[in-house]
Amino acid sequence: MESIKTYVQQHKDRFVNELIDLLKIPSISADPAYKQDVLNTAEAFKTRLLEAGCDQVEICETPGYPIVYGEKIIDPTLPTVLVYGHYDVQPADPLELWDSEPFNPVVKKTAIHPEGAIFARGACDDKGQAYMHVKALEYMTKNNELPCNIKFMIEGEEEVGSVSLGWFVERNHEKLANDVILISDTGMISKEQPSITTGLRGLSYVEVEVTGPNRDLHSGLYGGAVANPINVLAKMIASMHDENNHITIPGFYDKVEELSAAERAEMAKAPFSLDAYKQALDLNDIYGERGYTTNERTSIRPTLDVNGIWGGYTGEGAKTVIASKAFAKISMRLVPNQDWKEITELFQTHFENIAPSGVKVKVKPHHGGQGYVTPTDSIGYQAAHKALHEVFGVAPIPVRSGGSIPIVALFEKELKSKSILIGFGLNSDAIHSPNEHFGVFNFLKGIETIPLFFKHYAQLMK
Ligand code: BES
Ligand code: MN
Ligand code: MN
Repeated sequence: MESIKTYVQQHKDRFVNELIDLLKIPSISADPAYKQDVLNTAEAFKTRLLEAGCDQVEICETPGYPIVYGEKIIDPTLPTVLVYGHYDVQPADPLELWDSEPFNPVVKKTAIHPEGAIFARGACDDKGQAYMHVKALEYMTKNNELPCNIKFMIEGEEEVGSVSLGWFVERNHEKLANDVILISDTGMISKEQPSITTGLRGLSYVEVEVTGPNRDLHSGLYGGAVANPINVLAKMIASMHDENNHITIPGFYDKVEELSAAERAEMAKAPFSLDAYKQALDLNDIYGERGYTTNERTSIRPTLDVNGIWGGYTGEGAKTVIASKAFAKISMRLVPNQDWKEITELFQTHFENIAPSGVKVKVKPHHGGQGYVTPTDSIGYQAAHKALHEVFGVAPIPVRSGGSIPIVALFEKELKSKSILIGFGLNSDAIHSPNEHFGVFNFLKGIETIPLFFKHYAQLMK
């Protein structure tokens, strides 16, 4: 029987080319113009899953984009692993900042990836990472090495809040029944240092609208005498952090879990270079909540960030105008115990309270989700630990990530199972940014690790 390592070496070019084909389809869930492409990507995943050895694959309709569900049940008395991933991607813009076309993938060498990296929107988040599981199944099927049942659930709305997946999970407890959920949609510390994600932040995403006068005004005739909604919005946003960069919304921190000194000391053991961090982002200095380290700021602490702000004249040259309206999209990253709906309400009340009487404000909640933390003593965690240790030759480190996969908390609530997050992306892969890429090394290491996870998981479950 050939080992997974050998198998990956023999088939790596084909694996990369197959992924490139998937990456050519612009499955942007946020933009209705790409609807057919999103649907075609679901079909493509279905075909790949069948080829890789699933007995049965369905495109399950939902009120939104469909869910690709596949399974290979070898023995109902054996444990079942449910693999989750997403086939949708973020919009590619700003297009002018890409060095190559976002949906015309190219393999290029970089300083971090001398073996080459695949540049395309979705290369890492999450087509590349989801596809590692398809190729791992191919290996396990061909070599008769699948030691437990496997189910796949690949959705098309992760990047827009997984609303239809929530709907689907609530209605399909039996179909989705599993012992553990395996997800590759996060990152690892470095190519040398694997990690297992033990926490995700929650999210509350809102859009705000500030209205001043009923029409755009001449900024000379009216300026200084009426509230300029853009000035007001800027001031309101600025007031939401104090001089220590604490968020000023009353009640915002009430449920935030404070970690013990021992827990924080444990976290601080993860390798991290502040100089390298600053250098990678071209920053002279870091910035953030007083009293916390960079890693703490992006994992155990909540945040409030403007993601976009607009209004008034932004075209060529100058136009003298006081806009009638100003807008912003604001996200709050939450930590476990903070409830996203409660935080959304706190935000709304506060935003309305701080608005001066010269403007009207509206807050429109978008989507959100709860944070997640998972213990390191579960069988799934141990299996992931063993698998990563074997492949990388070093023990993986548990890490709480700053990102969000809101559906993970819902999986626990609805399906009563834990998610094991083994991601192979690097922070430098530029997910959601121009020039997103996924290292060929990382892609292949992922494919190598997954069958070992299955092997150890099945053994530990005996
Ligand atoms: N895969 C990411 C989340 C992620 C990336 C978690 C890296 C940890 C490390 C996911 O696709 C994502 O982008 N999630 C969104 C939330 C969603 C509701 C739009 C996010 O975190 O902004
Ligand atoms: Mn993702
Ligand atoms: Mn994403």
